[in-house]
Amino acid sequence: MAPAMKGLILSGGRGTRLRPITHTSAKQLVPVANKPVLFYGIEAMAAAGIGEIGIIIAPETGDEIRSAAGDGSAFGVRITYVVQDEPAGLAHAVLTAEPFLGDSSFVMYLGDNLLQGGIAELVAAFEAERPDALILLTPVPDPQNYGVAELEAVAGSERGRVVRLVEKPSAPKTDLALVGVYMFTAGIHDAARAIVPSARGELEITDAIQFLVDGGRRVEPYVVKGWWKDTGRLADMLEANRLVLETLVGRSEGELVDSQVEGSVVIEPGARLERSTVRGPAIIGSGARLIDAYVGPYTAVGEGCRIERAEVEHSILLVGSSVIGLDGRMESSLLGRNVVIRRADAQPRAFRFMVGDNSEIEIL
Ligand code: G1P
Repeated sequence: MAPAMKGLILSGGRGTRLRPITHTSAKQLVPVANKPVLFYGIEAMAAAGIGEIGIIIAPETGDEIRSAAGDGSAFGVRITYVVQDEPAGLAHAVLTAEPFLGDSSFVMYLGDNLLQGGIAELVAAFEAERPDALILLTPVPDPQNYGVAELEAVAGSERGRVVRLVEKPSAPKTDLALVGVYMFTAGIHDAARAIVPSARGELEITDAIQFLVDGGRRVEPYVVKGWWKDTGRLADMLEANRLVLETLVGRSEGELVDSQVEGSVVIEPGARLERSTVRGPAIIGSGARLIDAYVGPYTAVGEGCRIERAEVEHSILLVGSSVIGLDGRMESSLLGRNVVIRRADAQPRAFRFMVGDNSEIEIL
């Protein structure tokens, strides 16, 4: 019998597109609807029956990932951590994990990706059909930012077959992007060894899969039906937050004083609302305080945050942040941990900032 399928989650990388948040925290731990992005991947694997998961970590952020996900028992899985010394590409990550993976087939999942509907159906299809690789694809408006697939029709097959994969082509031939979830047999290790670094200096998984295609191996395409998000950039992060919040069922375990909640809103234990309105979908983290505040749709307010005499909408606030006394409404914003935004009483009326490297502030 073939060894059980394993999971490999890539949680290294530098997260340059989410600075400054990623100066102090791993991008995979930025919360979507108050839960780290990484946890959605672990849960998807657990739900697909995968019990052994390797997580690739970077030396810089590895400890934080380890302490967040632990040994996996909270998810009903066993987690092994594998340190990748440098971000030398996804195929390099696979090679780094070879001692963990052995000759098992595995699902590889990019730790900053979110896939609606999980992967159980895909794992079942892979195990039934046993191709050499199964790749997930979805049409996107900006294929030049992804690995792009060219397919060819095959008589009798509704999926067709993969003929070419190109990493971030300047002139994409199709709009079918490679989603950051892949299924492989152990043959991928030799393919990853056979390729050379790309123009960006990385061993690309896209090239390793192309190597399989060129060698006549079976690479099955699978166009995903639901939404998929790579949360590497702010706009994507906010959209992922919106999409996940839309799926939450409202419940209130907090305390409401002269306050209204409309639509689907999750209020976690110990949160307190005073003279405030929350219009869902939204989530208010435990211990958060809303005082004379309005929180609008698609907002995730982290644990212990404070919003007072202010309006916040379509935003993500990480643990311990506060927004106090704003004139206008804050929207489409991502605040890191313990950020303070407040109106000062001092004269003269002026903007005063203390912000970290690579921060962005937009004022109208
Ligand atoms: C990586 C892959 C790319 C894929 C993308 C999905 O890109 O190289 O083929 O389409 O993930 O998120 P990266 O995030 O490393 O730029």
